[in-house]
Amino acid sequence: MPAAITIQNRSAPSRAKQLKRDLLTLTEFTPRELAALLELASKIKKSPRKYARALSGQTLAMIFHKSSTRTRVSFEVAMYQLGGHALFLSGSEIQLNRGETIADTARVLSRYAQGIMIRTFGHAVVEELAAAASVPVINGLTDRHHPCQILADLLTLKERHGRLKGLKLVYVGDGNNVVHSLLIGTALAGIHFKVICPEGYLPDPVLVDYAAREGKRQGASVEISHKLSIRGADAVYTDAWTSMGQEAEMAVRLKAFQGYGVTKELMLESPSAVFLHCLPAHRGEEVEDEVIDSPRSAVWDQAENRLHVQKAVLLELLKGRTK
Ligand code: CP
Ligand code: NVA
Repeated sequence: MPAAITIQNRSAPSRAKQLKRDLLTLTEFTPRELAALLELASKIKKSPRKYARALSGQTLAMIFHKSSTRTRVSFEVAMYQLGGHALFLSGSEIQLNRGETIADTARVLSRYAQGIMIRTFGHAVVEELAAAASVPVINGLTDRHHPCQILADLLTLKERHGRLKGLKLVYVGDGNNVVHSLLIGTALAGIHFKVICPEGYLPDPVLVDYAAREGKRQGASVEISHKLSIRGADAVYTDAWTSMGQEAEMAVRLKAFQGYGVTKELMLESPSAVFLHCLPAHRGEEVEDEVIDSPRSAVWDQAENRLHVQKAVLLELLKGRTK
């Protein structure tokens, strides 16, 4: 039974939470705050030099228990371009690997750095880190959520379609961490979201319920299906069938997902839909070369937008924090 989502109570934050703001799931933001964050990311993207000293002298500690290209590089470059500094801390190089607790690590890093970003396995680890840290904590991916990715996806959709509210996004593939964060992000942004997964690979119903409730407030809907159809989609999204940490299941998963790949033929069903993928892609599995390399593919913009949204997140969370 998957752990229930911790939905932030936006109306009554605890005293500790008033002192700092974390980004663990995206539920920390109201729909209005999310729109403002994307607006800020667009502004930074247009005039990056204006923000060159914005986080001068500030440091982001980055803990990685899993591999990363985009998250690591975009956060590191973002801190550098904002006038600050990022520290790459692999789990195997710091004392965490030798038994120092997450909470003690959080307390110590909070004395040196103005923010902590972490990519790890269990989502509870990030929650524990955030509870013990006195500086903002950013989730750079867990088995359950990938909020920073979804901010980049929303910015890309907004650039491609000129709006978010009322769009239809269809996701095809595994009901994984990316889908969980898409359920939250699309609901907050008022995007109709359809998730198509094979039997046994559906997203957590707790998050589907959240998306249905929050989405309804924003005029959006959520639909879960096993049947492959992207009709009416403004965007089609897929992700790897085997996520990091699931490598032992690869053969079983490859079989289970047969017929759920995004092909050129499938994309013909919605000729104006753009193609999205958080990357890394497994070409020939969840997506064909002819789709990811086509003019309808927005994946390189998505990857670039990680940098711009990360800057907006860092500014929002770290601004005004003492060095
Ligand atoms: N999309 C994404 O998070 O990429 P990385 O795993 O390379 O960071
Ligand atoms: N679902 C993938 C996303 C990678 C960015 C994983 O967790 O490995």
